[in-house]
Amino acid sequence: MAKVTVRANGPYLVEGAEIRDANGAVFPVEPGKPVALCRCGASQRKPFCDGSHLKIGFQAAETAASFTAK
Ligand code: FES
Repeated sequence: MAKVTVRANGPYLVEGAEIRDANGAVFPVEPGKPVALCRCGASQRKPFCDGSHLKIGFQAAETAASFTAK
């Protein structure tokens, strides 16, 4: 089963999943290694995180405890 971890003020860390583009093509990633997907919008190598969230001071406060399903 895939696991996605929301990193504090950083990317989504994805483990155990294929990452596909809008056409269904699989991004080449190292098998078995987690990948970090950008959620700040500043990465120059989307959909992957390149560390730019640190440069722009990306802040996010989401936690499972504060989430309310709609
Ligand atoms: S979350 Fe790292 S560059 Fe966007």
